[in-house]
Amino acid sequence: MRIPLIKPFLPATVGERVLEVLASGYLTEGKVTAAFEHACREYLGASYCLAMTSCTVGLEAVLRYYRIGPGDEVIVPDYTYPATADVVAIVGADIVIVDVDPETMLIDYEALEKAITSRTRAVIPVSLFGNPLDYDRLAAIKKNYGIAIIEDAACAFGAEFRGRKVGSFADFSVFSLHPRKFITTGEGGLITTAFREGRDWLVSYKHFGLGQDSDRQRAVFQMIGTNYKMSDVLAAIGLAQMEYVHELLARRRELAATYIDLLSGVKAVSLPRTTRGGEHSYQTFCVLVANRDRVFKRLRAAGIEVQIGTYCLHQHPAFNAGNRCLIREKPVGSQYVGEHCLALPLYHELSRNDQEEVVERLVAC
Ligand SMILES: Cc1ncc(COP(=O)(O)O)c(C=O)c1O
Repeated sequence: MRIPLIKPFLPATVGERVLEVLASGYLTEGKVTAAFEHACREYLGASYCLAMTSCTVGLEAVLRYYRIGPGDEVIVPDYTYPATADVVAIVGADIVIVDVDPETMLIDYEALEKAITSRTRAVIPVSLFGNPLDYDRLAAIKKNYGIAIIEDAACAFGAEFRGRKVGSFADFSVFSLHPRKFITTGEGGLITTAFREGRDWLVSYKHFGLGQDSDRQRAVFQMIGTNYKMSDVLAAIGLAQMEYVHELLARRRELAATYIDLLSGVKAVSLPRTTRGGEHSYQTFCVLVANRDRVFKRLRAAGIEVQIGTYCLHQHPAFNAGNRCLIREKPVGSQYVGEHCLALPLYHELSRNDQEEVVERLVAC
């Protein structure tokens, strides 16, 4: 594509850091991963931060920490990437799908509250595309119903709510480091939390259930665990990018502001609303347009790599009642954004000319 949707930011220092790891001969999780976790923890203002092999396994591991499983219900928004709901089924619990607010594209807090039953153990709200959630409303729901708030923050690295970074509001926030995210390790994820006990459990779980005092000579396996360790090779990529994190986020916001400016007054295009009190990180820049599929085809034919926003779970066979998915009310808001949302190209080197062309062609559709 002439104007791609994304381009990972890979300065020369990324290669240098990766080569240093290769030269060290120590390729599994070690000092570099620990340094990457530390850099992310500081940046996000979180108490604890753990690197994982993906956001998906991070969410699954947190559900296992809570011992959520058969007989339990976990609420997820309909409009999200399937991973948000997959993890619920993977641990054997029931997926309860609720609608989203068509303005913010985030979980509808009233629908969420209505969906809570005596079997509900947790909600996985999604700070979709980098739009932060309303953590005040989530805190009130937690207080009233005692359910865990496990945030799918796959896209929300750098987003803020009331001046604080996403990653220190929910019980657990889980980020993705997939290449569509502006800090990426190729594949990877991060979990942040303030719970010491939860952090310790997760550290052990991702290291085969190893006890805290274990060393190479005297390993003690205290529980059944698995291997979700991040290799130092991948962490080196993320660590090199973290040196530019402020610049990268500022650039994304600048590019988003240019799109917003160019689109102001264009009647055929509307913009989703950022959560009140929040600052978007624009991991994805979305617009809402009529005839989205036609616009999609025309822009792609012109060499502009647009994408649909994400998916309406209820429209996919994986999320039917036979697979223990409960949809108590038809998701209307989600259906709307599912039909209208279009993601525009956004990456560090995108030029003003490219943005003008994207908007001109979009308007001409
Ligand atoms: C909302 C959401 N949740 C979860 C994921 C899965 O993340 P990962 O690929 O790191 O497992 C994605 C991937 O883009 C996502 O957009």
